[in-house]
Amino acid sequence: MAVAILVPGGGGLLGTELSRVCPPGDLLVAPKSHELDVTDPETTAAELGRFVAAAARRRLPAVVINAAAYTDTDAAESDRHRAFQVNALGPGHLAAACRAHGVPLVHVSTDYVFDGTAGEPYEPSAPANPLNVYGQSKLAGERAVLGSGARAWVVRTAWVYANHSANFVRTMARLEQERAEVSVVDDQTGSPTSAGDLASGLLSLAAHVAEGAGPSARLLHYVNTGRASWYELAREVFAHLGADPRRVRPCTSAEFGSPAARPACSVLSVRAWVEAGLPVPRPWTAALPEVVASLPDRGQAAAAT
Ligand SMILES: NC(=O)c1ccc[n+]([C@@H]2O[C@H](COP(=O)([O-])OP(=O)(O)OC[C@H]3O[C@@H](n4cnc5c(N)ncnc54)[C@H](OP(=O)(O)O)[C@@H]3O)[C@@H](O)[C@H]2O)c1
Repeated sequence: MAVAILVPGGGGLLGTELSRVCPPGDLLVAPKSHELDVTDPETTAAELGRFVAAAARRRLPAVVINAAAYTDTDAAESDRHRAFQVNALGPGHLAAACRAHGVPLVHVSTDYVFDGTAGEPYEPSAPANPLNVYGQSKLAGERAVLGSGARAWVVRTAWVYANHSANFVRTMARLEQERAEVSVVDDQTGSPTSAGDLASGLLSLAAHVAEGAGPSARLLHYVNTGRASWYELAREVFAHLGADPRRVRPCTSAEFGSPAARPACSVLSVRAWVEAGLPVPRPWTAALPEVVASLPDRGQAAAAT
């Protein structure tokens, strides 16, 4: 059944992928931040009202996928107020508007709510203990959404990349062209995730909840399966670009010296997602080559020659 989907943050990495993979029969409205600012409760309620009316005219069940966020983890350390406005207050405003209109909400969150010390993949029920301001603000957003009284689901994801927008895979492809060697952190392990796969998974969940169904578990994880350090991921990117992976050198987080602390191991378990009957994520090693091959500045040119 076709659905109508509103995607605040429609101009970002995930928002762009949601527009790209959305089935043609669905109505997807993806406002950019200047068109729907989630920190403004009046604008948010008004835009949701317009969307609900458009969905009703098309006789489509409506659902919201929130892709809006303040995502600069390092900048958030010195910009706490704005990070909490966008990542905590904003989702709260959106959830309140969804509740008022009776529209279900799928909200996206992060592995950075965890401190990375568990030593095993994190289940959604594992205790959160964010190490940085970004993670704290996202955890506050999760709580605002789940405590709002809206029909809402929170989906945590991690290490998201695509062939567009700012992300690690594109950065590595650029550095492969610019530098003889690249130092990459080898003491942080996580779940590299294709934005296209994540978008498809979220659309499956959204279709269920728009039809009045949806998993009983309100907190879920979606990532590509398997694990890697940033260093291991960078080597795979180099290999798929046809470059020598030995040009990637391991370094420590301390040597790299980012302003924000990050979890040492924030691999997410998708068990609850799969048990809810949602599409089984594929391994990150299967998803990555497709994205690298489609990089506009390298992969397509290489494929064309
Ligand atoms: N990328 C990752 O590796 C990763 C990992 C874990 C979780 N996540 C989560 O995944 C979700 C999507 O992130 P993403 O990777 O797509 O990030 P992104 O590329 O930075 O996109 C976020 C979007 O939100 C918009 N935005 C910022 N402030 C807003 C506001 N007040 N109102 C409405 N929109 C606003 C931004 O617009 P402007 O550019 O105009 O500010 C941008 O288009 C987020 O919830 C993020 O926390 C991402």
